[in-house]
Amino acid sequence: MKTVNVAVIGAGWFGDVHSECFLRAQSMLQGVKIKLHTVVDIYEPAAIKCKEKYGFEYYTTDWHEVIDNPEIDLVDVCTDNKFHREMSIAAIEKGKHVFCEKPLADTVKDAVDMTEAAEKAGITNMVDFHYRKIPALAQLHDLIQAGELGRIYHIKGMFLQDFGFDSPMTWRFKKALSGGGSIVTMGSHVIDAVRYLVGEIDEVCSTGKTFIEKRTDPNTGKEDSCDVDDAMTVLLKFKNGAIGMLMTSWLCHGCRHHHELEVYGEKGSAKFNSERLNELELWLDDPKSPLNGKKTVLIGRDNPYGDLFNLKTGMGVGVKESITIQMRDMVEGIVSGKAQTPSFYDGMMAVKVTSAIIKAADTHTWVKVPE
Ligand SMILES: NC(=O)c1ccc[n+]([C@@H]2O[C@H](COP(=O)([O-])OP(=O)(O)OC[C@H]3O[C@@H](n4cnc5c(N)ncnc54)[C@H](O)[C@@H]3O)[C@@H](O)[C@H]2O)c1
Repeated sequence: MKTVNVAVIGAGWFGDVHSECFLRAQSMLQGVKIKLHTVVDIYEPAAIKCKEKYGFEYYTTDWHEVIDNPEIDLVDVCTDNKFHREMSIAAIEKGKHVFCEKPLADTVKDAVDMTEAAEKAGITNMVDFHYRKIPALAQLHDLIQAGELGRIYHIKGMFLQDFGFDSPMTWRFKKALSGGGSIVTMGSHVIDAVRYLVGEIDEVCSTGKTFIEKRTDPNTGKEDSCDVDDAMTVLLKFKNGAIGMLMTSWLCHGCRHHHELEVYGEKGSAKFNSERLNELELWLDDPKSPLNGKKTVLIGRDNPYGDLFNLKTGMGVGVKESITIQMRDMVEGIVSGKAQTPSFYDGMMAVKVTSAIIKAADTHTWVKVPE
C-alpha cells in the first residue's frame, strides 16, 4: 500500500481544519494511506497542540525542514498569505505535491510563477476553494453544464460576514500581509464560484471602502492603521456575454457566513446561500422537467458527493465535508497522476480577477482581467 506523507505548514485556524480533514479523507480512499507526518508552526505551542490533537508524528518550527525532508510527499500551506509563494515554490522545486490555502498569492506575478512552477514540475496542485465541493453548488454547476438553466444572463455573488466589527488588528487588515481586504479574504471564494458556474470574467468595475480605519494591535495594545477594503462592490462582464455583480464585506450585521449566489438563465434560475448549505432554490421554466416551477430542493444522497458520508438526505453536510473531499481528491491525484480542480490555475485566475477589481476601485475605470 502506498503511503502519502503529509506536512501541514501553519497550525492556526485552517491548518487545524485541514489536519482533521486529512484524517477524515482516509475513509474515502482505498489502497493508499495518508500519514500525518509533520506539522509546522513558528509559534511552537500551536505546532505541539496540533501534533497532539491529530497525531502527527513530528512537529517543527522551521518550515524548511519539511521542504528538505525527502520523506514528505505533500506540503499543505496554511500560513498567512504572504508566505504562500515562497513555501509552495520551495516545495515544488523539491518535487513535492502542494495544496495551498486561498488566496494563492498576493500578486498576479506570484500566482503566475506558482502556477507555472507547478505545471512545469508536473506535481499535483490544488487551492482551497472548497465551495466547489459543496454538494449543492456542485449540483448547480452540473445543472448549468447540462443546459437546464439555458444560456446564463446574470449572476449575483455576495460574501458577507460580521467579524470586522470587533476584530483586533491582524494580518488580514494589512495589504502587505494579505494582498487586500474583504475582496481577497471572502471575494476570492465568490470569484471562484462565479467562474465555476458561469465562466471566465472579462472585465470589472468596482468601488471599495475602508470604514474602520484603525484597529488595536493585541501584541502592543496600540492602534494601527488598516489599509484594505472593509467592503467592495463590483460589476462584472463575462467572456460568454453574461453580466454580474459581486459584493463582499465583513461589516454586515446579521450575516455570519453569508455566501450567496443567484444565477439567472433563459430557462430558469437558482439560488444558493452558505447559511443554508444543503438547499438549492430552483425555478425551472420547463413543464417537462420534474423541477418545473419554484422548488427548494433538499440536497443529499442523490446529488454530487452524496454517497461519501453515509448520511440520509436532510441530515446535511458542512464545510468540513467539502474540505475533506478536496483532501481526498488531492491524495487521489498524487496516486493517479490525474490533474485535480480547483488547481493552482484556478487560484491564479482568482488572483487576476481580484487584482483587476482592486485596480478598478483605485482608478475608477473598467479594468480587463489579464489573460
Ligand atoms: N479556504 C478558506 O475558507 C479559508 C478560511 C480561513 C483561512 N484561510 C486561509 O488560510 C490561511 C491561514 O489562515 P488562518 O485563518 O488559519 O490564519 P491563522 O493566523 O489562524 O494561522 C496561521 C498560522 O501560520 C503560522 N505561521 C505564520 N508564519 C509562519 C511561518 N513562516 N512558518 C510557519 N508557520 C507560520 C502562524 O503562527 C499561525 O499559527 C490564510 O491564507 C487564509 O486566507 C482560508
